[in-house]
Amino acid sequence: MGSQVVHVAGARPNFPKLAPVHRALAELGIAQTLIHTGQHYDDRLSDSFFADLDLPQPDVNLSVGSGTHAKQTAAVMVGLEDYLSTQRPDVLVVYGDVNSTLAGALVAAKLHIPVAHVEAGLRSGDMAMPEEINRRLTDQISDLLFATSADAVENLHVEGLSKREIHMVGNTMIDTLLKVKPRLNADSVLARLNLGTPYLVATLHRPSNVDDEVSASKAVAILKAAAEQLPVVLPLHPRGRSALKKAGLEKVSNLTVIEPLGYLDFISLVSGAKAVITDSGGIQEETTVLGVACLTLRATTERPVTISHGTNRLVNDSNFEKNLAEVLVGGASSNAIPDLWDGQSGPRIANVLRDWLLKG
Ligand code: UD1
Repeated sequence: MGSQVVHVAGARPNFPKLAPVHRALAELGIAQTLIHTGQHYDDRLSDSFFADLDLPQPDVNLSVGSGTHAKQTAAVMVGLEDYLSTQRPDVLVVYGDVNSTLAGALVAAKLHIPVAHVEAGLRSGDMAMPEEINRRLTDQISDLLFATSADAVENLHVEGLSKREIHMVGNTMIDTLLKVKPRLNADSVLARLNLGTPYLVATLHRPSNVDDEVSASKAVAILKAAAEQLPVVLPLHPRGRSALKKAGLEKVSNLTVIEPLGYLDFISLVSGAKAVITDSGGIQEETTVLGVACLTLRATTERPVTISHGTNRLVNDSNFEKNLAEVLVGGASSNAIPDLWDGQSGPRIANVLRDWLLKG
């Protein structure tokens, strides 16, 4: 008999969301298989996360690699269809909003294998983001919808999914963060980088900020404005490298550009920063829990709870300097940690899955 639960993960942000669910299911003695699609393959975007998160090595690696959206999504689908049609697990679990998420959900749904989506219901309303397309479609074909926040549950109801199993479980990525929190050590990362305090951290990889010349120039101007206030460390995702370099990234003084960091080093660096400038989704949530000010370089967020409850602000090239000045003087203004972001989301999901499997 194959595994009852098959997990599909493929890109950097999937791994910290997966680890607590995998661990909690293992504690319940439920048979599971981990499939890595290979969407991310660099050590810094993939392997190092398995080590930092104590995740077992994937049972299967589809090694799909990079490509256009169609090529990448299709390659995951073909590889998974082969595996799932012979193994036929009881449920397939997908995470977040990357291409591997939608590809996994599509294949399983068409093979009549139930799909569980961890991080269901988040909506930016911006259909120009590939992630928004991935999220909406994945939710439409998922049987079990695990939401991180009340607004996400509401979005699922508005989209007519009330009859599905919707469970508000909190945030598994925050389980991971809280687990590693005692091990965070910003000083050791700073020493390796030859940097002192105070400092800012920046990350940029969204197509809207790094894929074309105009956006990349605006992003570089923002980094320059930030670096005029405090030293900035930018662990640079490979996606934006060439456009940002062409836009003059290397000429910005007081800016240290480094390779992407592993999970522990990155979160350590964020935990000691005065503020973070980012276009990432997950970092908006991690800064909220760490109480570090977050300036998100996007017009929308699918994670409004990080603004209503957390430390996040949406900024653009016209209001960036004003917002940075405010957080440098006033610090992060946080109301409260969002409901159920308490380190127990993985066990909540595992319990729901166990009961659901028992129902047959
Ligand atoms: C993907 C996700 C995005 C997520 C991000 C986190 C989609 C649509 N996007 O974006 O939601 O926030 O991961 O990192 O799924 N590359 C490497 N090494 C790798 C992987 C990629 O150098 O290990 C380079 C390749 O040039 C590739 C480019 O990065 O073409 C983009 O990779 P891809 O996985 O397509 O999207 P991301 O921008 O990483």
